[in-house]
Amino acid sequence: MGFARMIEHPDKYTKSMPRAMADDDIHRNLQFGPFELSSRERVLRRDGVVLPLGGRALDILIYLAGRPGEVIAKQELIDHVWSDVTVEEGSLRVHVAAIRKALGDGQFGNRYIANIKGRGYSFVGTVIPLTGNTESRNDKFRHQGRLPVRPVTMIGRETVVSEVSDKLRDERFVTLLGPGGIGKTTIALAVGRTAAEEFGGEVYFVDLESLTDPRHVAGAVATSLGLALKSKDPGLELVDLVRSQKLLVILDSCEHVIEAVALVAEQLYRETEQVYLLTTSRESLKVEGEHCYRVLPLDCPPDGSEQTANAILRYPAVQLFVRRVAARAGSVVLTDEEAPFVAEMCRKLDGLPLAIELAAGQVAALGLKNTVARFELLKLSHRTAVPRHRTLKATLDWSYNLLSDGERIVFRRIAPFVGHFTLEGARYVAGELGAGTGEIFDAIAGLVEKSLITTRIDETQAQYRLLDTTRAYALEKLEQHAEVDVVLRRHAEYVAGYLATPDLIRAKRCSNRRALRRDELDERRNHQAERKLHEITS
Ligand SMILES: Nc1ncnc2c1ncn2[C@@H]1O[C@H](COP(=O)(O)OP(=O)(O)OP(=O)(O)O)[C@@H](O)[C@H]1O
Ligand SMILES: [Mg+2]
Repeated sequence: MGFARMIEHPDKYTKSMPRAMADDDIHRNLQFGPFELSSRERVLRRDGVVLPLGGRALDILIYLAGRPGEVIAKQELIDHVWSDVTVEEGSLRVHVAAIRKALGDGQFGNRYIANIKGRGYSFVGTVIPLTGNTESRNDKFRHQGRLPVRPVTMIGRETVVSEVSDKLRDERFVTLLGPGGIGKTTIALAVGRTAAEEFGGEVYFVDLESLTDPRHVAGAVATSLGLALKSKDPGLELVDLVRSQKLLVILDSCEHVIEAVALVAEQLYRETEQVYLLTTSRESLKVEGEHCYRVLPLDCPPDGSEQTANAILRYPAVQLFVRRVAARAGSVVLTDEEAPFVAEMCRKLDGLPLAIELAAGQVAALGLKNTVARFELLKLSHRTAVPRHRTLKATLDWSYNLLSDGERIVFRRIAPFVGHFTLEGARYVAGELGAGTGEIFDAIAGLVEKSLITTRIDETQAQYRLLDTTRAYALEKLEQHAEVDVVLRRHAEYVAGYLATPDLIRAKRCSNRRALRRDELDERRNHQAERKLHEITS
């Protein structure tokens, strides 16, 4: 395939990438929490004080911290650190234990080195590459230094960043809400960078993704601020330490420790005047002071609009797709012939940036038409991303694992709906097999709260929808379940009943005509999907 009329060369974006262990990184200093690791001087400092750590342990730490997020096999570490002698795995364990001790790993929510069972070790702290040593850091860097460097340039979202920045300035506490992979962290980082000057560089990023114990949330915030908590009430101690300061704290990926984050965030909001909070989550924190901002998908070329290369390249979803293909396949030119396929792909992926990135990887490897033809979305992979972004399935698993039992049941039972459906539809289809109306409504509300269902309100009623990628996942769950036939039958009955309802009654239910047409279209698509599903499952 061709591609790229408008694209600057992807090298521009990869230049700022923290390529671990690349030659020019070898002499770089790295910061994580209150620590600074200098590979040139071969020292580890905490708050400027050199910590005693042996040569091999330093080698291990430098190797691991140079490749944050990657799982490094034990043998690879041994080969690197003991290239001169043969040692057993036990030696590695002893040295890793020494490093952990020096870092206070495991205390107060600090977490830097994870042992990934059967695979190796991974540095899981947020690493900030520094230029030169602490003393020579320039001001510009200091203003941005506490935010992790993301290897990619953000596409579109200028309005969102400015709206969120304004909201944050006015309200002091904003949550970016949305499904996995929609771009919340990307936006939060951009807001952080924009705000850096205003906050005199005091912008801190707390990556909660790898935190498994909710008791360590306050400790994790403190670690990111370079503080260590000692008291039995870490939340209170944290508030005391930051009370008089003006700071922006970004709490990223809150949903899996939501209650603990809610407590800490509320405490920070209520008991300080100048601590600003920006959180990202698939579900809102629901505490005093929180203002939610829902992140929407990237705009895609609508069905029926002009589908030439120039026309579709005006949409950020297409720009993202083309850039990601170019980054992997080199310079590419999007042709008018290919444009409709690309537009369709972006629509099918609901403008979800993560899904678009994953699809772009596939296109770079297989070509456009082959990818469209065998669209195995849930299996697409993305090697460099955080683990839960390596496949769409992984990002959806993350959300699914946080659902209650009732939400899981309703989630899989509403999978047959294509496009929008109503509460009544959900109740009809999910309602058999023991789930009561109240439980179904609660579950739908929970799924909306957790960003697995999107809503729109027509004049008369709320309507719900699963994004196509989410629906494919929900269908997989349904197909694994014994109730699949019953649910499909209920859905077929519902759709047939709906289509048989006289237009007039439906017009009353859905008073504006456009909504009615949309509604009808969704129902017809439902009907087609129904037939297709039967073909697949029978
Ligand atoms: N506007 C954008 N421009 C370029 N890339 C983007 C944009 N938005 C998101 N991405 C890319 O899409 C992927 C997912 O984005 P991000 O990590 O921000 O999602 P998220 O909403 O925080 O997901 P999660 O809920 O899993 O934390 C990332 O690889 C990111 O680089
Ligand atoms: Mg995120």
